[in-house]
Amino acid sequence: MLSTAIKRAGYQVDEAADGNIAAEKIRKQPYQLVITDLRLPTLSGLEILKIQKETDATIPVLLMTAFGTIEEAVEAMKQGAFDFVPKPIDISHLLLLINRAVEQRRLMLENILLREEFQRAYGIPKIIGDSAAIQTVSQSIQRVAPTDATVLLTGESGTGKEVFSRAIHQLSPRRDKPFVTVNCAAIPHTLIENELFGHEKGSYTGAFSRKAGKFELADLGTIFLDEIGELHLSVQAKVLRVIEEQSFERIGGLETIRVATRVVAATNRNLQDLVAKKEFREDLFFRLSVFPIHIPPLRERISDVRLLAQFFVEKFSKDLHRQSLQLSPEAAGALEQYSWPGNVRELQNTIERAVILSDGKTIRPEDLNFAFQGRKRSEDFVHFLDLSGSLSDVSNRAACVAEKAKIKQVLDLSNWNKTQAAETLNVSYKTLLNKVKEYELE
Ligand SMILES: Nc1ncnc2c1ncn2[C@@H]1O[C@H](COP(=O)(O)OP(=O)(O)OP(=O)(O)O)[C@@H](O)[C@H]1O
Ligand SMILES: [Mg+2]
Repeated sequence: MLSTAIKRAGYQVDEAADGNIAAEKIRKQPYQLVITDLRLPTLSGLEILKIQKETDATIPVLLMTAFGTIEEAVEAMKQGAFDFVPKPIDISHLLLLINRAVEQRRLMLENILLREEFQRAYGIPKIIGDSAAIQTVSQSIQRVAPTDATVLLTGESGTGKEVFSRAIHQLSPRRDKPFVTVNCAAIPHTLIENELFGHEKGSYTGAFSRKAGKFELADLGTIFLDEIGELHLSVQAKVLRVIEEQSFERIGGLETIRVATRVVAATNRNLQDLVAKKEFREDLFFRLSVFPIHIPPLRERISDVRLLAQFFVEKFSKDLHRQSLQLSPEAAGALEQYSWPGNVRELQNTIERAVILSDGKTIRPEDLNFAFQGRKRSEDFVHFLDLSGSLSDVSNRAACVAEKAKIKQVLDLSNWNKTQAAETLNVSYKTLLNKVKEYELE
């Protein structure tokens, strides 16, 4: 009867007479959606759900539940069921759910994370970028988000680890449940266990009442363990146990608490190094590294700089009630030249300051006032420098590299107006021409 109704609504339907047959079909072929009863001959609906999650976690599973199986249905939701429909089935309600499930997955498989309308619909903070690097990151995020897998986000400070961790939560079936952040670096190690796991009344002097920890507060939702590299060794084993067994005891408590909290962790440290230095447990490191996602630094995705800059110019013009400001091509060029040690956050701060400083309609290079003017991308040139020969040989080589970079920058900034560039560089026009030739800049 259901199958007829669903076919009438325009879908293709395949049927399975019992759990084993269903499992076999699921493994053989990807469907867009699986609808199953909780109680089945041979395998249960929960087992079907589990098999589907192992085969392809992006395929939604809808469960049909009879009166009295509500607890199992709740359990199924915890394990990643898309939703459940109570029996007797209301066909129009079922069709609505089917439509929503299929549509959600379709969007999930496209690269929707970077699309604005989708960010709005899902309450994802703005994520900007069109570099290949950021596309790859967003695809990984989309793939892993709907599962319960533990995710480790790595990347330098300011690359967007927190933004992406929120996106994972928002793109998961947990999106209506809590998203709880714990900054492991900000909490003294004597307090972190309490913060994460809570305590029982009277467990220590001053524990006047029972307090729930962050893992409990994030039950059914997501906990974001930021700066996990700073997590004190003394609590790492307990964190590992929650990830593996979903259970722990509060401080001073005997009762084992069970939670279904999804863990997303982030760090700008190299955890492997910390493991080698015995500052981080190897078992926790392996557990966290099941699904690692690395967010490359901004200097490795220069094509995002302009987009991000434009986005921030608009944002801060609006926030600061400025007329719509333009980024001059020279300023945009200078932004692309810079090495961005502080990544997107530094770019954001730079633009905010520039919007405040600029008095006209455009942001000029001089408004940018980089915090680390000296640290252009070429600062790393010593690594490429030939260090053979005498000290003066090396100095000469270094000077040439630096001169070439400086001359190129000034020429670019002046749109190759050589008179102007010579003036800025404080050399004669002729010297500049010689240097341009010597360094093969033209
Ligand atoms: N791709 C992006 N698009 C738009 N804004 C971004 C992007 N990446 C980062 N941001 C913004 O840059 C700032 C820094 O990002 P975020 O806090 O996520 O970085 P982080 O990796 O957690 O840094 P830290 O290690 O310093 O905590 C935030 O204000 C964030 O909104
Ligand atoms: Mg952060």
